[in-house]
Amino acid sequence: MRGDAVKGAIFKGIEDVAKSTFGDTAWQRILETAGCKEPFFTAGDNYPDETATALIRAASEVSGLSEETVMLAFGRHWVLHTAQVTYPTLFHLAGDTARSFLMNMNRIHELVTRNLQGAHPPKFEYEFQSEQALLIHYTSKRSLCPILRGLIEGVGLYFNEDLKITETACMKNGSPKCTIKVHFP
Ligand code: HEM
Repeated sequence: MRGDAVKGAIFKGIEDVAKSTFGDTAWQRILETAGCKEPFFTAGDNYPDETATALIRAASEVSGLSEETVMLAFGRHWVLHTAQVTYPTLFHLAGDTARSFLMNMNRIHELVTRNLQGAHPPKFEYEFQSEQALLIHYTSKRSLCPILRGLIEGVGLYFNEDLKITETACMKNGSPKCTIKVHFP
């Protein structure tokens, strides 16, 4: 296996969101710009982390949107479409409100990556500031906090809950971790 690998469902998600947002022709240009030889991605396979980074950069170049905007859109789309198709059972077991779903994420990631070589599942720390305000702390050498924000937005949309999401600390600004504050209605 070549270095760190990410479950193919992530790549399938990048392909899905790029095709549905920008169209098939743009997706071909994104693959070319990223120097990616794969014609398509399958959920069960592993691909190297660098390919994900190259695809996000290429999607930003081809679309003219910032990498952050691409990552946010990917996170939302992944929860609202890809994850429900790729992991239907797990998805529906994970929770029945945005709060319970988010609070179950360490367990879900542990389950889903248990047999996956080279996986780096996220491990979140949770801190309630009040009944309504939850801090989610995230550390990762991948620093994917815009994706994390998009995923949390997707969870809010899926459960039809008007979540207020703010990032109160970020590794990209020198903080040891990213902290996302989720305010439940
Ligand atoms: C049923 C729903 C979900 C499933 C099955 C799932 C599955 C996965 C998988 C397979 C990975 C790749 C792990 C690896 O190979 O390194 C991943 C990464 C990640 N997931 Fe999820 N996920 C789900 C929902 C969520 C939600 C709702 C959040 C946000 C709260 C989230 C946050 C993340 C983050 C931040 C990463 C990247 C970790 C890093 O490298 O920093 N996931 N997820």
